[in-house]
Amino acid sequence: MTMTEVFSPELRAEALVEALPYIKRFQGAVVVVKLGGSAMADPELAKTFAEDIVLLRSVGLKPVVVHGGGPQIGEHLRKLGKESRFQNGLRVTDEETLDVVRMILVGKVGRDIVGAINVHGAYAVGLSGEDGGMITAEPHDESLGLVGKIVSVQPGIVERLLAESMIPVISTIGSDSSGQAYNINADTVAGALAAALGAEKVIYLTDVPGLLLDVTDPSSLISKATLPQVEAMLFTSVIDSGMVPKLEACIAAIRGGTASAHMLDGAIPHVLLLELLTDAGIGTMITREQP
Ligand code: ARG
Repeated sequence: MTMTEVFSPELRAEALVEALPYIKRFQGAVVVVKLGGSAMADPELAKTFAEDIVLLRSVGLKPVVVHGGGPQIGEHLRKLGKESRFQNGLRVTDEETLDVVRMILVGKVGRDIVGAINVHGAYAVGLSGEDGGMITAEPHDESLGLVGKIVSVQPGIVERLLAESMIPVISTIGSDSSGQAYNINADTVAGALAAALGAEKVIYLTDVPGLLLDVTDPSSLISKATLPQVEAMLFTSVIDSGMVPKLEACIAAIRGGTASAHMLDGAIPHVLLLELLTDAGIGTMITREQP
C-alpha cells in the first residue's frame, strides 16, 4: 500500500507543514552526517539515505557525509586470508591492512555513496581526508600500527564544495607531513569536522535507536539531553560501553561549537527526515543547554 492510500490528504499535508519551521531555521546550515558501513551494505537503506541527503540539500541545508566501512573492510581482509584484530574498538592496522582500508573506504564505500546520491543529480563529490590536506594525523598508539589520531582538520576543501552546492562525501583517511597515510576512526572525524566547519548539527547513524538507559530496552530511549547531563552519564557509567566512543564524539563536537548532536538508528528508512523535519524527532538530540 502506498502512503496515498493509507493516510488522508490532511495527514500528509500536516507532515509537510510540520517541516516548515525547521526548513526555515536550518537554511544554509551545515549538517555533518556520519554513516557506518552497514547502512551502505543494504541497497534499500542506501537508496533512502541518498533521498534524505538530496532532499535536505534541496530545501537549503548543506549536508556533509562522513562514512566508515568496517564490515566491508573485514570482508575484504577475510578474502585475502587476513585476520581482523581490534584493540578498544580500533582496528590494528599494518601496511597491508592500511592498503585495504584505503582501497575499500575511498574506492568502494565512498564510491557507492557518491553513486547513490548522484542518481538524483550531479551533487556528490567523494574525498579522502588526505585530499586538500583536510586531515592531518599522527600515530594513535604504537601497538595499533597505522591508526591515526587527528592533529588538525583543515575544512577549506569541504567549504569550497559546499559553496558550490555540492555534497562532500568523506572517507576518513588522514596523512602526516611525510605523506604517510593513517586509518582514522570515522566517528571521531565526524565530530572534529563538524567543529571545524562550525556545523549546526552532527548526526550519527548507528545500529541502536539512540542513547538508551538500558541497551536491551528500546523504550528507555533518551529523546533529549544537555551536555552536562550526558557528561554526568559518562561519569557515572550508566551508558553502555559500546555507546561511549560515539557519545564522546558528540560531546567533542558540541564543546567545539556545534549546536546539536544526534544519535539515530540508521536502519529506520528516512530517519534523517524524521529527526530533522519533525517536532518530536525519532532518536536522541544532545544540545549544549536546555533549548
Ligand atoms: N527537528 C528538530 C531538530 O532537528 C527537533 C528534533 C528533536 N529530536 C529529538 N530526538 N528529540 O532540531
